[in-house]
Amino acid sequence: MKKHRCLHFSIKRLVLLNLFLALNSLCAQQVTIPISSEGFTILLQTDEDNLLKTVYFGESLLNESEYSSVSGMFHFKDNNIGIGNAAYTPSGTWNLSEPAIKVLHSDGNTSLDLRYISHETKFLENNIALTSVVLQDPVYPFQVTLFYKVFRKENLIEQWTEIEHNEKKNVTLQKFSSANLYFTDNDFYLTTYHNQWAKEMQPNESKLTRGIRTVDSKMGARAMLLQSPNFILSIGKKASEKEGKVILGQLAWSGNFKLEFEVDSYDNLRFIAGINPYASQYSLPKNTIFKTPSLIYAISNNGTGEASRNLHKWARKYRVLDGEGERLTLLNNWEATYFDFDEDKITALFKDAKNLGVDLFLLDDGWFGNKYPRNGDNAGLGDWQENVKKLPHGLGYLVKEAKKEGVKFGIWIEPEMVNPKSELYEKHLDWVIRQAERPEVYFRNQLVLDLANPEVQDFVFGIVDTLFTENPELAFIKWDCNSVIYNAHSTYLEREDLPQSHLYIEYVRGLYKVLERVREKYPKVPIMLCSGGGGRGDYEILKYFTEFWPSDDTDPLERVFMQWDYSYFFPSIVTDNHVTNWGKQSIKYKVDVASMGKLGFDIVASELKTNDLLFCKQAIRNYHSFKKVIWHGELFRLMNPYQNDLAALMYVTEDKSKAIVFNYLVNNRVSFHTNIEPVRLDGLDRNKKYRVKEINLYPGSTTRLASEQLYSGDFLMKIGINPSLSLRKTSAVLEVTEVKE
Ligand code: DGJ
Repeated sequence: MKKHRCLHFSIKRLVLLNLFLALNSLCAQQVTIPISSEGFTILLQTDEDNLLKTVYFGESLLNESEYSSVSGMFHFKDNNIGIGNAAYTPSGTWNLSEPAIKVLHSDGNTSLDLRYISHETKFLENNIALTSVVLQDPVYPFQVTLFYKVFRKENLIEQWTEIEHNEKKNVTLQKFSSANLYFTDNDFYLTTYHNQWAKEMQPNESKLTRGIRTVDSKMGARAMLLQSPNFILSIGKKASEKEGKVILGQLAWSGNFKLEFEVDSYDNLRFIAGINPYASQYSLPKNTIFKTPSLIYAISNNGTGEASRNLHKWARKYRVLDGEGERLTLLNNWEATYFDFDEDKITALFKDAKNLGVDLFLLDDGWFGNKYPRNGDNAGLGDWQENVKKLPHGLGYLVKEAKKEGVKFGIWIEPEMVNPKSELYEKHLDWVIRQAERPEVYFRNQLVLDLANPEVQDFVFGIVDTLFTENPELAFIKWDCNSVIYNAHSTYLEREDLPQSHLYIEYVRGLYKVLERVREKYPKVPIMLCSGGGGRGDYEILKYFTEFWPSDDTDPLERVFMQWDYSYFFPSIVTDNHVTNWGKQSIKYKVDVASMGKLGFDIVASELKTNDLLFCKQAIRNYHSFKKVIWHGELFRLMNPYQNDLAALMYVTEDKSKAIVFNYLVNNRVSFHTNIEPVRLDGLDRNKKYRVKEINLYPGSTTRLASEQLYSGDFLMKIGINPSLSLRKTSAVLEVTEVKE
C-alpha cells in the first residue's frame, strides 16, 4: 500500500470542498466521460446532483458529440432503483441495492456518499489510455478514484479502484470492489467455472434471472479450488464462437474473490467484482491508498473467438512474464517416480529426457528434508535441504549430470507451506497460520505459512534465492501450493496489533512482494505456477510466472474439454500440458492433446514400446518445428467437443502463412463410421494457396490426405478438410503451409 501523494485534507479544505460541491450542484454542469476502445465505449456521466452514473456500455458512437444525448433516451422512473447505475455504488445513504463499497468511518458512522470531483485521461502509449475519475464524500474526507486502463486495439479494459481518506483515525473498509458495471441490454447469459482437484474448469452456463448470482471463493491460498474468477458474459443472446456480444473476463487476484451479477427490476445487469469482503474488513490508516485488484475483460461483438484472441494478444504482449518469448519442453518425474527415487533413478531419467529430445528435466516433490525426509506428503515440507540419502551429492551434482546429457535442470518447490512434521514447524510455530487454542486442520497433511509476516516473506524469498545462488545453472522452477487456509489466524498480525481480518488480503500481498523480489533478481528464468493442479492462475500472479499447470488430471480425453475451456482465457504459451499414464488412450492421442500448449512428459520413456518411443521422438521434433505457431499464433476454435463427436482447433501465424490444426475424437461410440464431414478452417488468407500435411503419424500408419495437393484458403475455410478420424485414428494433427507460386 502506498502512502498518498497529494491528498491532504484539513478542516478548512473540507469546508471549501463542501462549498464547492454545493455550488457545483447549483450550477451543475453535466460531465460526460466516454471511455473508449476502438470498438466499445463505457459512458460515464454526472447527473444534476453530481452523482456519477454508467449511462451506456456498448458499441462506440461515430460522433463523440452525441454522447451527451445518450442518457436523455433512458427514462428510469423509480427513484430508488433509478440509481442502480451508479458508477461506484456507496452504501448507508441513498443506495439500497448491493453496494460496491461499504465503510465504517473513524467516528463510527456508516454512511457514505460519493460525488464526482474530476477526471483525466492520459495516453500511456499509442494503444493504451488511462482514465481516472475522482469521487469524494461531501461530508467525510473520503475519496475513491476509479481507474479504467483501455487497451484500444484489443477492446480490453483493466479496471481498478483506489480508496483513501484523511479522517482522524482509521476507517474500516467493509466492502471494496474493483469494478461496478451496468448494462442496459436485455437477456444475459453467464458461463462460470467450477473446480475441484483434477476437475478444473467445468463450465456452468445459465441465463441470468432477476436477483444476484454470486461466484466466490473463501479458500485463501489455493483460492480457485472450488470456483474460478473467469467468466463469459453473453449479452442479448448466448454468444457463439463467431457471433454475439460477449465479454470474457477475470478478477486478477490470487486470493478470495467475489463476483456478483445482479439483474435488476429493469432487467438490466449490475456487475460488481472484487476481493471477497468475507472475514476481511480492512482498517485503513489516513493518507494511505487501498488499491484493489484489477477486473480485466475483453469485449467483442463477434463472439467468443474474437474476444479470446484479443485477450490472448493482450496477455502475451502486456501481462504474462515473457509472454512473447520462448518456453522449454520438459520431462517431469512426478508420475514416473512419485516420492520413490534416488540419485541413480534421476540421472537415468536425464538420459530419457535427452533421448526423447526435450529441453529440460524437472525434478518434482520429494528431494528434501533430513530429520523428517520427504518420502510422502506427510513430512518434510518446509525443510529445503537436499535429502542426503536420496541425493548424496546434492542438487549441484544433478544440474551438472543433466548438463552432460545436454538437458537443462529444473526443480519443484512449495515454499508457502509446511508439514507439522518438519524442522521448520518445530522452530517457527509463530510463522504458521493456525489457531493456537484449537486443533489444527490439515489439507494434504500441511499448513500454510503466514505470508503477512515479513520474516516469512524473507524465508520464502530465501528458498528461491538460495537455490539459484547455489546452482546458477538451475533453469526452471515449479512453484506449487496445495493447501487452502483453515483456522485463519496470524501471530504476526496479533503481535503488531493489526486486525486478524487483514490476513486473507495481506497473505496475497505478501506473496506478491516475494514474487516481486524474485523477479527483480531473476527476471527471466521460467517458473511454472502450480496449485495442486489448477488452484491458482490469474493475470495478477501471471505477471511473475511464465506458465501455469491447469490440472493434475492429464487423462487426454478430459484434457480436450478442459484445455478447450481454459483456451477462452489463456493463450497456449501459458498452459502446460503433460503426457502421462493417465487415461487408456494411445500415446499418439496423448501427445497430440498435450501439444496444444506447452508440451511436457511425465512418463518413464525407457519403458515405452519401441514404436511408442519412436512416435514420441518424432512428435517432439515436429513440436519443436511448429511450437512458435502454437505459442504466438492466433487461436481459432473450430469444432466444440461439447456439441460434436470431435474437437478441432487451430493456430495461425499473424501473416497467415502457417497453421497447425488439432483434431481429437471425443466420442468412442462412433466405431461404425469415420467422421463424415470436413472441418472448416479459419483465420487463413482466402487468396493464398496452402499445402495440408498430416504430421504426428504413428509409425506404420498412413494418411488419407494427398500432401501434394494445394488448396486455396477460400476452399479450406468454406469447405474445409476432413481429418478422417475413426476409432483406429482418434486424433490428427495437420500442418497447413502457404505455397508461393
Ligand atoms: C501437486 C501438483 O499438481 C503435482 O503436479 C505434483 O507436483 C505434486 N503436487 C507434488 O506433491
